[in-house]
Amino acid sequence: MTRTERTLAIIKPDAVAKGVAGRIISRIEESGLAILAARLVHLTDAQARGFYAVHRDRPFYASLCAFMTQGPCLPMVLEGENAIQRWRDLMGATDPASAAPSTIRKEFASSIEANAVHGSDAPETAAFEIPYFFAAVEICPR
Ligand code: CMP
Repeated sequence: MTRTERTLAIIKPDAVAKGVAGRIISRIEESGLAILAARLVHLTDAQARGFYAVHRDRPFYASLCAFMTQGPCLPMVLEGENAIQRWRDLMGATDPASAAPSTIRKEFASSIEANAVHGSDAPETAAFEIPYFFAAVEICPR
């Protein structure tokens, strides 16, 4: 079944610092997903902890939050048919060592933590993550 969905994508601080944000955005545009909102954000520790609260009991939580605050990231709202799965397919596996050839993480990520990009994993997650970064008036429908 296909349905129009929105998902939250983040180009993480490692990819912004490396200067590959533009190449990642090109991948998104070439895929046919529409970018409805985008902005550079330098997260505070509290903001990173809130965003990744679902992982608060995981051993990597503190390190992940420190990584996400080390420089600006670039959150975006993407829209399209089955946008959540399509963006996850473009990203590739969480660990770049396991990511398929030609995926964003295979090409641009350097570790499971510095893995270049984030994407919502389900509609309920997107419903939390999109308004975490964007007010309704900042999202431009197509
Ligand atoms: P992301 O898609 O942003 O969702 C949660 C993040 O936690 C994930 O990408 C990784 O960056 C990070 N992560 C997941 N598993 C590990 C791990 N074992 N060690 C360090 N970071 C991890």
